[in-house]
Amino acid sequence: MKKEEIEREIERLEQFQKHGETYTNEKGSYGWRNPIRKDTGRILQSLMLAANPERILEIGTAHGLSALYLISGVNDNCVLDTIEFEESVANQTESLMEELEINVNVLCGEAMEVINRLSNPYNAVFFDAQKSHYGQQLELILSKGLLLKGGLIIADNVLDRYEECKDFYQKLDEYKIEYTVIATECGLLVAKF
Ligand SMILES: C[S@@+](CC[C@H](N)C(=O)[O-])C[C@H]1O[C@@H](n2cnc3c(N)ncnc32)[C@H](O)[C@@H]1O
Repeated sequence: MKKEEIEREIERLEQFQKHGETYTNEKGSYGWRNPIRKDTGRILQSLMLAANPERILEIGTAHGLSALYLISGVNDNCVLDTIEFEESVANQTESLMEELEINVNVLCGEAMEVINRLSNPYNAVFFDAQKSHYGQQLELILSKGLLLKGGLIIADNVLDRYEECKDFYQKLDEYKIEYTVIATECGLLVAKF
C-alpha cells in the first residue's frame, strides 16, 4: 500500500473549505458531508494499527476521508467495505480508491439493505451515516453475526449529536457491551464486542 499517496490524499480532503452547504478545493466543489475531524482521523488510524483487522465495515463513506484514515492504519491484506447511498458520491469515491489502488470497496445503497446482503464477518465496524440509525444498524450487524467476537465498534458524533444516538446507547446496553467515549470534537465511541 502506498502510504505516502494515502497521506497526501488525506491532506487534500482535509483542506476543504466550507462555504455554506458546499465545500471546495482545487479538485472541485462538493456537498457538505460532515467528514470526521482531524483528531478523530488519527485515533481511527491508531485503533486500526493496534487491532490489525482483516476486514473493516464502514457505514457512511462520503468522500472517503475516514476510509483513508482507517485503511492507512492496517496491513496490505486488510479489506475495507464502506457503504454510501448517494450514487454520484459513491462513484466518485470508488474512482479515488481505484486510483490509489487500495482495498476499499464502496458498496452503493441504503445501509440497512446493504448490510442485509452481507455475509462475511468483520473485525471492526465504524458508524458514521445517520446518527439516529446507528442503533438499528448495530442490531442488524450483530443479529447477522457480521461482527466477530472481540471486534471493534466505533461511532462518531456520539457527543455533539447525543440525542440522535440515544437508541444506539440503548442497544449497546441491551447487548451489555461496555464502551468508552473519547472527548474528540464530536465524540468518538469505542467498544469491544
Ligand atoms: C457524515 S458523512 C460520512 C463522512 C465520512 N465517514 C468521512 O468522515 O469522510 C455521512 C454519509 O453517509 C451517507 N448516508 C447517510 N445515510 C445513509 C444511509 N442510510 N445509507 C447509506 N449511506 C448513508 C451520506 O450520503 C453521507 O455521505
